[in-house]
Formats: sequence, structure tokens, C-alpha cells
Amino acid sequence: MNLREKIRNIPDFPQQGIQFKDITTLLKDGKAFRLAIDMLAAPYKDKNIDIVIGPEARGFAIGAPVAYVLEAGFVPIRKPGKLPAETIKYEYSLEYGKDALEIHKDAIEAGSRVLIVDDLLATGGTTRATVNMVEQLGGRVIGLAFLIELSFLNGRQVIAGYDITSLVEY
Ligand code: PRP
Repeated sequence: MNLREKIRNIPDFPQQGIQFKDITTLLKDGKAFRLAIDMLAAPYKDKNIDIVIGPEARGFAIGAPVAYVLEAGFVPIRKPGKLPAETIKYEYSLEYGKDALEIHKDAIEAGSRVLIVDDLLATGGTTRATVNMVEQLGGRVIGLAFLIELSFLNGRQVIAGYDITSLVEY
């Protein structure tokens, strides 16, 4: 099965000039979805991952099943104002725009082995923010796993030095 063929391209969404990679077509295909999750989890099977982190919202759909496969816990990263307990916040730039993310202060225990999972590595802003918050809380980032990497945006440079897995590259 070719995962790339399951991803739909939407021109000029959400803005003129952006070629949006729509993963809903992959997610609704049971075999493709399962293959993608298994491929994202495979490199980390023997890495004793304690926590998988997924950024809202597409990171939930990909991160939670990877956590299940690895028998790890799942911790959400959310847009501001959504998490109910005490949080830390990090501001970052997006491929189109600016945003901020939050994590619960007590979500990561010091020394925890963390895998960050998201659907997309674009500019790397979201991932950089996530890495910084995890490390601020004392977590150890063991790897970063993405369904899609937009390599022309050079997101890898923003998170150089970490172990990175991506399944489909554009
Ligand atoms: C998208 C995507 C990644 C991020 C990647 O999320 O799911 O989290 O952008 O871009 P970056 O590498 O340039 O930071 P978005 O903020 O659009 O949120 P959504 O998942 O809620 O649609």
C-alpha cells in the first residue's frame, strides 16, 4: 500500500498558494490508517517510551493510537485556554500565522521518555514549541514522528539533533 496515494491535495487552502495535505482521506481508510500508525510506532518499540505527546488537533488522531501501540501514556498539547489545570505556554510561528500552545504543568514527570507525534512537520514551529515545553518539564525527547514532512520548508533545521521519523515527504 502506498500511503502517499491516500493523502489528498487541496490547492489554495486555507490561503491562496498553500497546497494543503488533507489526511482525512487516509484516516477513513482502515488499512491505510493502521499501516501508518504501525509504521510510526515501529522505530520506537524497544525505546521504552513512557509518554506520547500529540499537538491539537490532528496530532491527537495520530498520536493517541501510536501511544496505544507502544503501551505508553498520551499527553495532549492544546491551543490556549483549553486545558483545565495549571499550564505552561509557548508562543511560536506557524506555516501561515502565529499561535501558542499549552501543556499541563504536571503532564510530564522528570526523566520521562517522550515521543512527539504529529501528522505534519512543516516549518517545525509546533514541534519546536512542543520539544521546549517537554524539556522545560524535565522530559527526555527520544524521538519525533510525523506522517508527512514538507521538506521544502526545512522544518528539520529547527529541530536538528533529534531522532526524526517521517513517512511521506513532499
Ligand atoms: C498543523 C499540523 C501541525 C502543524 C505543523 O496544525 O497538524 O501540528 O500545523 O506546522 P509547523 O511545522 O509549521 O508548526 P494546525 O496548527 O494547523 O492545527 P490543527 O491540527 O488543529 O488543524
